[in-house]
Amino acid sequence: MDIDKVSKSVGKTLEIKGWVWRKRESKDIIFLIVRDSNDIVQCTITDKHKDFAKAKKLTIESSVIIKGKVAKDKRAPTGYEMKISKLEPVHIADRFPITKDKSTEFLLDTRHLWLRSRYLTAVLKVRHTIVGAIHKFFRERGYYEFDAPVFQPSQCEGGATLFEVKYFDDITYLSQTWQLYAEAAVFALEKVYNMGPTFRAEKSKTSRHLSEFWMAEAEAAWMGLDEITQVAKDEIRFIIKEVLKHNKKELELLGQDIKKLERIVKKPFPTITYTKALEILKKKEGLKIPWGKDLRTVEEDRLMKHFDTPVIVTHYPKKVRGFYQPVDPKNPKVCLSFDMLAPEGYGELIGGSQRDTNLKDLIKFLKLEGEKPENYGWYLDLRRFGSVPHSGYGLGVERLVAWLCKLENIKDAIPFPRTMRRFSP
Ligand code: 4AD
Ligand code: MG
Repeated sequence: MDIDKVSKSVGKTLEIKGWVWRKRESKDIIFLIVRDSNDIVQCTITDKHKDFAKAKKLTIESSVIIKGKVAKDKRAPTGYEMKISKLEPVHIADRFPITKDKSTEFLLDTRHLWLRSRYLTAVLKVRHTIVGAIHKFFRERGYYEFDAPVFQPSQCEGGATLFEVKYFDDITYLSQTWQLYAEAAVFALEKVYNMGPTFRAEKSKTSRHLSEFWMAEAEAAWMGLDEITQVAKDEIRFIIKEVLKHNKKELELLGQDIKKLERIVKKPFPTITYTKALEILKKKEGLKIPWGKDLRTVEEDRLMKHFDTPVIVTHYPKKVRGFYQPVDPKNPKVCLSFDMLAPEGYGELIGGSQRDTNLKDLIKFLKLEGEKPENYGWYLDLRRFGSVPHSGYGLGVERLVAWLCKLENIKDAIPFPRTMRRFSP
């Protein structure tokens, strides 16, 4: 945490610890650009200095401790430089494999080294703020953090994307969602939230899908669809404000438009129904989607061309949503469900709904999904003992990181991405 002090230390001598990020040398002078977790600074040393030979030996990514006097210098990348008075190599790095213009695949293979790039460092800092903001948001509003098992005996979001795990002499699955367990918890704690690793055997190789991602979920007793969508809107607004408060420097480095985000937090996020979304697609995009079809990524993107804030879409057709989403008493074709879509083609940020409390319906819809209701005995029990209306949702943390950091691919929103074709390093 030292290099960020440089700009406030003109005329003073500082000691910094870091890594050689760039090096330029001529016969009688060496320019080192040194980075730490915070910033970069140019450091210079001339051949008159006793440590010049040591500086000569430094390679890219060598670690060093440098003492030097800070001066303003317009030619230096940050406008400041340190005149080295003492240079102590800590480790001389081997030839660093990452050079300019490496392919995306190469950077994924060397992810353990690419993590230290200024780009990924900036993304990781924004992610840190987002994660912190999620905890802060829910805790300030009286939600309790509640943990669910990662090994789970059944599906919630469709059997097709379950990861099967050998469990002693049995098989079980990795968590697709925390939701079903949270529905048990609301009877004790009323309002709960969590952020945890989530697993989906997604066969799609898109720029939006990971097979391991982090989902931030919330579940609240006594809330219906309207109340829960309001919580989701408030949460996203709160997170963006926190990112604007703490990460302007990172957003700039990532090429994100700060003014645009500032405008977004001031605007209301519209809520429209699925049916209205189809009307917009027809009228403004000339896209005729038969009522009842789920919105695919392409359609979500075409819809979102007409909005510059996140949008909540509600009342999806029941037949395209999970067994736990209740039919709307006013229209049995739709259910009390919602998604929040991000602008600029970043897709679905949030999926959620009110929860079905009608035991007969739940059993019926489980059967329609090809499930045996007896495998959900404990979950169905929750409708037998003091059942109450409740609602919840899940936010894809990496989708939000990708949008706020303006990333081209969701893989860069998580330190070590897992996809259909990659599970190392
Ligand atoms: O819409 P989903 O599937 O909703 C649920 O799992 C609910 N049980 C949540 C709840 O109500 N508690 O997933 C929620 C969000 C999506 O909107 C998306 O942002 C993200 O999780 N998501 C993914 N992110 C990255 N890679 C994937 N494969 C994802 N699948 C879902
Ligand atoms: Mg969804």
